[in-house]
Amino acid sequence: MTIAQGPTARTISADPDWWRHAAVYQIYPRSFTDADGDGLGDIAGITSRVPYLASLHIDAVWLSPFYPSPLADGGYDVADYRNVDHRLGTLADFDALVDALHATGIRIIIDIVPNHSSHLHPWFQEALAAAPGSAARERYIFRDGAGPDGAQPPSGWGSNFGGPAWTRVPDGQWYLHLFAKEQPDFNWDNPEIQEDFLTTLRFWSDRGVDGFRVDVANSLIKDLSEPFRPSIDRVLGGDLPIDGSDPLYDRDEVHAVFERWREVLNEYDPPRSAVAEAWVPRERRLLYARPSELGQAFNFDLVLAGWNPREFHDVITSNLNDAAATGASSTWVLSNHDVVRHATRYGLPRGADHNAWLLGSDAAILEDREVGLRRARAATLLMLALPGSAYLYQGEELGLSEVAELDDHVLQDPTWERTGHQEKGRDGCRVPLPWTRGGESFGFGPDGSHLPQPDWFGDLSVEAEDGVYGSTLELYRAALRARAQLQGNEELDWQVRDTEGILHFSRPGGWHCVTNFSQQPVDLPAGVVVVCSGPLLKGMLPTDTTAWMLQ
Ligand code: NOJ
Repeated sequence: MTIAQGPTARTISADPDWWRHAAVYQIYPRSFTDADGDGLGDIAGITSRVPYLASLHIDAVWLSPFYPSPLADGGYDVADYRNVDHRLGTLADFDALVDALHATGIRIIIDIVPNHSSHLHPWFQEALAAAPGSAARERYIFRDGAGPDGAQPPSGWGSNFGGPAWTRVPDGQWYLHLFAKEQPDFNWDNPEIQEDFLTTLRFWSDRGVDGFRVDVANSLIKDLSEPFRPSIDRVLGGDLPIDGSDPLYDRDEVHAVFERWREVLNEYDPPRSAVAEAWVPRERRLLYARPSELGQAFNFDLVLAGWNPREFHDVITSNLNDAAATGASSTWVLSNHDVVRHATRYGLPRGADHNAWLLGSDAAILEDREVGLRRARAATLLMLALPGSAYLYQGEELGLSEVAELDDHVLQDPTWERTGHQEKGRDGCRVPLPWTRGGESFGFGPDGSHLPQPDWFGDLSVEAEDGVYGSTLELYRAALRARAQLQGNEELDWQVRDTEGILHFSRPGGWHCVTNFSQQPVDLPAGVVVVCSGPLLKGMLPTDTTAWMLQ
């Protein structure tokens, strides 16, 4: 297999604002490439794919957690914040990856998980061994239970993965975990926790990391005054109040934490970037993105929007207005490791219940892969034309759909067990990538893959698409190469907002992006087609297709 290289070797740009308009490719390390044959992807595997990453013309990679972890939540349960999981490699391997990426002009962002640690973190083990009220317990959130004998959880708060957010320990106390019980929440009122995360930021920044993605940034500070007040059950996509009054999520006090983080990130030249993962109402998102805090916050509005021009238009307009009003840059996301892949979302009936489809519990919900992929390609091309930075998720450049055919016994997402098998969870977008048409684990590694890959992966492998005109891989490469020319310019002018069918906007320099959401082919404006998400039909733009044009 040959991987097309970029037209020129690139170097890291000197622009300290690179993150404002970056194309960032998310790598879920355990499912990218397995170099040592244990079925889990690893750091050396990622390093071996740097030429592939360079061929995508991305500006940065974002690495999901690679830290020592018992994998109760795919690595978002960290047992040591300043090390590499031995199954994924060593710190020396990590340094080699950073060097290899930087040598090809690609920056690296890593995940930092401050809300909770793993239950195997030495501090939590120490807390379990210590007495109630001890300093060791004060690093986490331990409370006595409710009811005459303390046998009831201290409050009715629910975990984001289902079930209660409290678990009891043998001496009778309970600890809080907003996610799995293997992910105890830190006590962010404790200065030791605050300081330790500053040390972690410096540790990785000193190793050359360019930025951080901050996991559940909106939940660190809690109102633990008693009696405990009710909170919403699940923050992902849930309806939070817009005044910061929920006791667990999006409290105003959290911003003081990120102001301190910004001071540390600004100790570096260039300052290290950061992006908040914060499932909060749009009005509140920009607080995290203030220049005095993280600088960026993920905008998941396109993930939540249907394939509908009105929704796309409104999401784009409102987010660009917000960004302009505050000096932040917009972020755009269609897929990541937590949501059903967008090639599948657009191929399911409008409004379909994704979980019911994954479970196969509603025979009426059928996926149309052809329609889904056509729309996904059009949506991606539209997204890549927008001002701001675009976050791409591994495998979307191959046009991968969600893998629904995972048997119950292979599921790893804690949601499956915690919901009593009511929710299948997120494993379907985390199946290891197909690199080759066939062979052992489709080229993922020499000895199997930790989640089974379906037969259809071979046709969507890198080998099957590399160099093939019209393939999704070549579409991404062409689009990302062309997008680089737009960088640094954050203006957008709507030309057509026919929210029944056509969205057409221009960017400075005569650049136009036209998407046809309607059922009929439409005429293109004058100009030269630079990139198109699908073939034209007698010179017209077919349904579910986006074209970039130069006038
Ligand atoms: C958000 C991460 O993206 C998700 O994968 C994880 O399960 C939760 N945070 C908990 O860390």
